[in-house]
Amino acid sequence: MRTQVCIIGGGPSGLLLSQLLHLSGIDSVVVERHPRDRVLSRIRAGVLEWGTVGMLEKAGAARRMHAEGFPHSGILLAARNHGFRVDFDALIGRKIMVYGQTEVTRDLYEARDASGGRIIHEAQGTALHDLDGAPYVTFVKDGTEQRIDCDFVAGCDGFHGVSRASIPRAKIRTFEKVYPFGWLGVLSQTPPVSDELIYANHARGFALCSMRNDTLSRYYLQVPADDRIEKWPDTAFWDELRRRLPREAAEALVTGASVEKSIVPLRSFVTEPMKYGRLFLVGDAAHIVPPTGAKGLNLAVSDVHYLHEALGAFYGGDRLAPERYSDRALARVWQAIRFSWWMTTTLHRFPDQDDFAQRIQEAGIAHLEQSAAAQTELAENYVGLPY
Ligand code: APR
Ligand code: PHB
Repeated sequence: MRTQVCIIGGGPSGLLLSQLLHLSGIDSVVVERHPRDRVLSRIRAGVLEWGTVGMLEKAGAARRMHAEGFPHSGILLAARNHGFRVDFDALIGRKIMVYGQTEVTRDLYEARDASGGRIIHEAQGTALHDLDGAPYVTFVKDGTEQRIDCDFVAGCDGFHGVSRASIPRAKIRTFEKVYPFGWLGVLSQTPPVSDELIYANHARGFALCSMRNDTLSRYYLQVPADDRIEKWPDTAFWDELRRRLPREAAEALVTGASVEKSIVPLRSFVTEPMKYGRLFLVGDAAHIVPPTGAKGLNLAVSDVHYLHEALGAFYGGDRLAPERYSDRALARVWQAIRFSWWMTTTLHRFPDQDDFAQRIQEAGIAHLEQSAAAQTELAENYVGLPY
């Protein structure tokens, strides 16, 4: 088999890239390790930057998002049991869209199907070859070894994928920060406690109230990195969440049985450069952010923006355009890494945090409440920096 761009990974990055390339007349094949229903069973974050909304529109995959998603013009922040609103729309004239990433992925699969996209599922043992020459990809499908020759390989296969691991160790540098806590997430068939997201700093630890729709809520609690799910029956989760929220929200909280419960570790991770020869890393394959800034998917989409543009320019005659992909993508990646790190360190309780450090955090958040300048900085980053 031959294609112009072989895309490893059928998550949101790989699917969006494949769809945009198709609309630019560039052929691709997506090679995915898992069956489609497994990819669509992952529960992930649910906040889209307005640039991400624009990219999904461009891909022709935005109809259901506009019908079922919820534009939000701000978020609520809280500390010392007191909450206040940051109004993005009033500050910078832009909004965010609350729409689950699982739904984004489903919409992208539908868009690929409608335009005859080639997606190979359940590919085993994917291997990348001759990346600095004439690249090709091999894998086993239904017991038979297959080979795809291509001009470029797009590594969209997430943090644990084969793409980054295929780059010689001496050719890349990685940067990592592991945070000493995790997030315990609960999805529940209950109405959200608030119309907008609540990010709460508390001396007992961070809490976040989010939602998927009018009857489905998503809540998170900061927990020790080595905590176990068995320690958190639903009642314990709701009791702890109530303790960390401002009184009004705690009293309004509607609880119910959890539909899903999981613990995720928090880390920041960046690979430089995001390319090797004719391989380009995209999304989680290249970088990880802690979920506090809601940037994971949005950053993947911005990588896709730059790579789509670079490959379009290449096939239009600008042979050097792909060389610039990594620097352009990384400039924006580091902005999101910094913002996510700032949100995380401002809102979480660190294991060695004393009362002084707690008061410093609270003072920072009180300053945000009073300063339009500080709120504008948060708004610009949260809503998403321009591409
Ligand atoms: N061969 C083929 N496919 C693979 C391989 C492999 N060796 N390894 C992983 N994959 C697939 C995974 O099964 C998955 O479907 O690659 C896909 C990667 O998808 P994601 O992990 O969702 O990564 P990405 O598409 O970059 O999505 C952006 O940002 O912070 C996150 O939660 C956010 O998942 C979102 C991500
Ligand atoms: C979510 O809805 O799952 C969510 C929202 C905001 C975040 C992280 C996760 O910062």
